[in-house]
Amino acid sequence: MITGLNVELRRRRYAASFMSNFFRGREMRKLSASRVVNIADLRRIAERRVPRAVFDYLDGGADGEITLRENCRAFEEIIFRPRQAVAMESCNLRTTVLGQEISFPAMLAPVGYSRLMHPEGEVAAARAAGEAGTGYILSTISGHKLEDVKAGTKGFAWYQLYLAGGRLAAEGAMERAHKAGFSALVVTIDTAVAGMRERDSRNGVPQLLGSGVFAKIPFLPNLLLHPGWLISFALDGGVPKLENVVVPGQGPLDMVNVSESLSRGAVSWNDLRWIRECWSGPIVIKGVLIADDARRAVYEGASAIVVSNHGGRQLDSVSPTIRALPEIVSAVGHQTEVLMDGGVRRGSDIVKALCLGARAVLAGRAYAYGLAAAGHPGVARAIQILRNDVERTLRLLGCRSVNELDTTYISYPKEWRASFHV
Ligand code: GLV
Repeated sequence: MITGLNVELRRRRYAASFMSNFFRGREMRKLSASRVVNIADLRRIAERRVPRAVFDYLDGGADGEITLRENCRAFEEIIFRPRQAVAMESCNLRTTVLGQEISFPAMLAPVGYSRLMHPEGEVAAARAAGEAGTGYILSTISGHKLEDVKAGTKGFAWYQLYLAGGRLAAEGAMERAHKAGFSALVVTIDTAVAGMRERDSRNGVPQLLGSGVFAKIPFLPNLLLHPGWLISFALDGGVPKLENVVVPGQGPLDMVNVSESLSRGAVSWNDLRWIRECWSGPIVIKGVLIADDARRAVYEGASAIVVSNHGGRQLDSVSPTIRALPEIVSAVGHQTEVLMDGGVRRGSDIVKALCLGARAVLAGRAYAYGLAAAGHPGVARAIQILRNDVERTLRLLGCRSVNELDTTYISYPKEWRASFHV
């Protein structure tokens, strides 16, 4: 019986990988340099390839999506001040995060449900990051086992923690992550409850991921309009389990809808001491938007902070992250590394964040569009676009190294500066 099941699982896995190889030829053609010039092009291809429920989960934000939009728009308020006619033989894009070298100042952010965007999901994204010489952060809401994700990349990886499944499940995940070689733990603190993702409700995400067959019916026609995705999803075994949230005696948790997972995963400052006892490596606190929380994170032992509003997916109407960054850098930049995510769609956005004091950025949607569009080649293309952008921007700015970027290369709204000394 068990052997029969194993054979069946292996057969499906082969079939899924055959299908993804079959589609890879088409995907590579779709990714030609003239068709995919920027991240917005990958977004368009993703929108066509995956069902609406999957695309909107990835693309959407909370409530009126004000912060989602502002995260991108706020970058437009920063104006470059280039130094012209600077002779430059080489241009250094390398930096370090928590002592680990990255080939350019961006890492891949944790993105939940990546395996629904493409069967290779988290494994493909981590592999592409490693090949590009940067790091990957694996979300708790992952359909692939963390051991497979780590084994699939030659780069370094960090593990992002929610407490979905409770403390025992989290302890198991931290122990496995440590054994597998994840070098830092990223604790997300902005999910007291899940944000209201209106698009997910309209698209029936809770029904599609839940167990009731009849409740799914109204939402099935759109899936049928995406046969390529549907076949590879079915061959991959359908909705995966949360392979890294293993409740003792119960096995991996079902991939229930996002709001349930996130609400069950809320972390409070009180959990930090226990987390520090379980995890001996560096801890990164993600989701900081105000100076007080940044100081508290440092007090609790954070080795790095991620200025983040969860890509506009949690509390709406909070500050766009690029605007919150100066306040955090001013409060704790001398004590800890400050990273940021949110709204990064171009290499020039990355450069602007570094000018305002970020050590590096985390790109989330930018590569997830590539994953949904074409799997591994799509992620690789997204990273290449961002990297080339950063180098070109630096050369046009007349700056020889990402480590030399500072506020003298930009001008930005005065009121952003007012929050400097809080
Ligand atoms: C998961 O972290 C999500 O924002 O959906």
